Formats: sequence, C-alpha cells, structure tokens
Amino acid sequence: MKFELKGITKRFPGVVANDQVSLEVSTGEVLALIGENGAGKSTLMNVLYGIYRADEGEILIDGSPVSFSSPADAIAAGIGMVHQHFMLVPVMTVAENVVLGVEPTGRFGSLDISEARRMVREVSDKYHLELDPDAVIEDLPVGVRQRVEIVKVLLRDAKIVVFDEPTAVLTPSEILEFFEIVKTLVSAGRGVIFITHKLKEALTIADRINVLRRGKVAGAADPKHATEAEIAEMMVGRAVQLVVDKSVAKPGESVLRVANLSVVEPDGRTVVDSVSFEVRAGEIVGVAGVQGNGQTELVEAIAGLRRAASGSVTLDGKEITSYSPRERHSAGMAHIPEDRQRQGLVVDQSIVENLVLTRYHDDEFSSGFLMKWDAAEAKAKELVAAYDIRTNDPTQSASTLSGGNQQKVIVARELSRDIRLAVASQPTRGIDVGSIEYIHAQMVKERDAGTAVLVVSTELDEVMSLSDRVLVMYRGKIVADLDPKTVSHMDVGLYMAGSRPDEARAS
Ligand SMILES: Nc1ncnc2c1ncn2[C@@H]1O[C@H](COP(=O)(O)OP(=O)(O)OP(=O)(O)O)[C@@H](O)[C@H]1O
Ligand SMILES: [Mg+2]
Repeated sequence: MKFELKGITKRFPGVVANDQVSLEVSTGEVLALIGENGAGKSTLMNVLYGIYRADEGEILIDGSPVSFSSPADAIAAGIGMVHQHFMLVPVMTVAENVVLGVEPTGRFGSLDISEARRMVREVSDKYHLELDPDAVIEDLPVGVRQRVEIVKVLLRDAKIVVFDEPTAVLTPSEILEFFEIVKTLVSAGRGVIFITHKLKEALTIADRINVLRRGKVAGAADPKHATEAEIAEMMVGRAVQLVVDKSVAKPGESVLRVANLSVVEPDGRTVVDSVSFEVRAGEIVGVAGVQGNGQTELVEAIAGLRRAASGSVTLDGKEITSYSPRERHSAGMAHIPEDRQRQGLVVDQSIVENLVLTRYHDDEFSSGFLMKWDAAEAKAKELVAAYDIRTNDPTQSASTLSGGNQQKVIVARELSRDIRLAVASQPTRGIDVGSIEYIHAQMVKERDAGTAVLVVSTELDEVMSLSDRVLVMYRGKIVADLDPKTVSHMDVGLYMAGSRPDEARAS
C-alpha cells in the first residue's frame, strides 16, 4: 500500500508550519523524516494522523483521496502513531492499558481482559517484544513502555506506523532493540515513518530519508551513499560543525564539591552510593552512564530537587546541602533539567515569561511586586535571536513551540545569567544538529569564562566531545574518572557496563 501526502499546507496564527509538503511512504519500507526544530515534522504527522486538518493539500491511499476528521478515521485507514510522550496509565497493567487504548467502537468492541492478555502475548511473540501482559506500567523501563504503545498500534492493524522521536528517551541498547522491532515490522509488510535528530540512526535504519526545512521539503537523501555532514547541511542550510570546537581547559579553583553523597529511594534502595567528586572553575566534567545508574538522582540532589540521605554538596566553599532549589539558584547554580515539560517550563505561560522565569526576583526584571515587562521582553528578544528559537511572537504560550524549541528556551534562560556552576542533564535531547552546535559552543564559552560545568548525558558522543574529564556512573557509584582525549569510546562503554577494560582484555 502507498500513502501519499500531497501539497500539504498547515498554518497556525502567524506561522506556516507546513508549506506545500509532499511525501510518500509504502508498506515494506522505512522513511526517516528529519529536519530542524520547528521545521514542521510533528505537525505533518499530526495531519496524517487526523489530529490536524490541513488548510491545503490532500492525503491519498493507493492513489485515492481520503479525508480524516479525527485520529479514529486515520486509524481505520491503517495509520498508527506512537507519540513521544506515551499515553499509558501508570498504575494499570500492560493488558489493561491495551484494552483502554482500543476504542470500544473499534473491531474489539467488548474486549475483555483475558482476551487482551492473550492478544498481548500473541503480538508480543510475533514481533519479539517480550511483553508480560500482567506487568504494571510504572514498573517498566521506558523502552518497554514504548513497546506497549507499539502493541496498541499493531492491534489496530496499522499498515503504516509513525514514530515521533522514539529514540530520544531510549538507552543505547534499547535503541538497538527498537531497530530490531522496526525491521520485524517491515518484514511483516508494514511501513514505518521514523522521526529523529540523530543522523546516524537515520542512516542506519532508513531506506529513504526526507528532509524538511522551515516548513518545506528541502530534499531527499539515499542512506546508502549520503554522509552525516551532507544531511546536516541539507537540514540547516549551511555546513555544521559536528565535533565540538574547544581549546584545552585551564581549570581553576574548586567550585562544586560533592562529598560522600548518597540518595536513598523511599523503598530503601540506595540509588546514589557515597559519591564524591569536584568540578573546578573553567572545566567541563561529563557524567557518562547507562540511564538508570543514578545519574538522574545525583543531579536532582545537586540541584535541590531531591534530599540527600547523607553526604554534602558545597558550592564555592559554602555548604548548600539543605538549600532549596531557589536558594541554590541565587547562589549561582544554573540547572537544565532532564524533564523539560515537568521541571523546566511552565508551558501555559508565555515564551517571554519562561525565558526569565527563574529571574523574577532579579532587580533587572522586577521592581518590588511589578514585572518590568519592557526589560523582560527585550531580554527575551535577544535570547530568541541568539538561540534561534523559532517563534514569530514570544508573547505566545510556550506550548506553541516545537519540542526542540522548548528545550532551547530552558538552555537560553539558564546560561544567560551570571552563574558559577551549570548543571545540565541531557542538554541537547531532541535538539537538531545546528542548535546542538550552538548550545555546545555556549557551554564551552561558559567554561572559558570560568564557570564550572557538569554535564550528564546518555549520548556517549556528546559526553566525550564536550567534556574535559569524564566520570562513569554504574549502579550508583562513580567507577571511573577518565581523560576523553586518551580513552577510547570502547573502554568507556566497558566501564558503563560495569566491567573494567584491563580485566576484559586479560580474560
Ligand atoms: N498548536 C500550535 N500553535 C501554534 N503554533 C504551532 C503549534 N504547533 C506547532 N506550531 C508551530 O509550527 C511550527 C512547526 O512545529 P513542529 O512541532 O511541527 O516542528 P518539529 O519539526 O516537530 O520540531 P521539533 O524537532 O522541535 O520537534 C513551529 O514553528 C511551531 O512553533
Ligand atoms: Mg516535533
């Protein structure tokens, strides 16, 4: 079957999100859809999935025009979508979620739970998803939750499955498993549209690559021949520096000192286990590790979002272990949180307010009780330009921004004031290659101005190229302190997996 989008235009107030976009995908192939933050990828997929109605253009299936006025219509026509933010009920089981996910009016009208369990098992076996129908969602890692969404889509018999940035939240091994699932889907005669910012992934898994830029189709690339640099240039419209450009660090005095810090979960598990390290002025320290080894909790304890069970955090010689996040902020700590929607933004407020959100109490933007709107808007305008935040009106709500542009708002806000320490968790998750280049350059600039920078990322390439020193976390402990200039990716990978490179080679 062939699905075609032809001349699709979709406008939002003041923006043409899709401008005469045409693309097609057939069953039995993987189409990668890539493009800058705000290029219109999610919007286009929402048109295909019946969430938005296009202002112009048409959708054709095997050459015949179709019209969708809701996702139910798109589903009935064989289109499935796995959203980036999963829509599962955490306290319910896999099978219960699957029953919920299938509309009662659909072909599984009166689906009972034992039937649902049987079907989950059947689909899981067929596509090697290894799902337990009785597992409770909140106990499952992200990669497994994603498979529950995949089962929902398959049970509705989707011919084309759209994945909007599925790998952004997955660990490297989960990504490999995800690719295996994609291959199984394709060999079972389904088609896949795969949105990603990681060009390597597009080159690895796609049969074809389509590139969007500023709402229009910028071109197509053949993964067999194209290089990352070529695709990056097609996306952004200029050559992109894919490696971080920085001089040798000149570390000064110690700024952040973490001593014997432990974090214990309510159920008694120790997730950060007596961790000690320091970050000096003028250096970038990266924390590498497979997600789930305590990095998130470590950062939350440093930022004041989580209580330490024992140990201390010191900033510029002052102990701040019991400070609130606000007090840490005033003491000169910037924090780019991992979960941008929950911790980094107030999505219902304007982009201007979000850009100065943590700064209400600065004299620059407030005189007593009143916001200095002119100053805030001027600052916002400056940051929107510098960080290339795609909006035509910063007084609009932050929810109108594309995912990557929301992330840029947080980074811009946190790095744009006078700080001593920047703590960044997954700072470039969901960000396009052009903006990654800019954000990395800003972090290096902070470093060179004498700020201490702590970066936590599950992207090993990012940690290795950005950091002056790399710490590896495994099961709550720091198991290695490495020089990224001399250690190989392979060896860092071995530490991340809990083995020691010297021992691994000896055996
Ligand atoms: N509901 C909305 N209201 C107003 N503008 C919107 C809305 N949704 C999207 N936009 C705008 O449409 C444009 C395209 O956004 P879209 O989310 O499709 O980008 P994207 O390519 O998915 O980007 P990203 O890689 O950051 O996810 C952006 O300029 C965005 O601000
Ligand atoms: Mg998007």
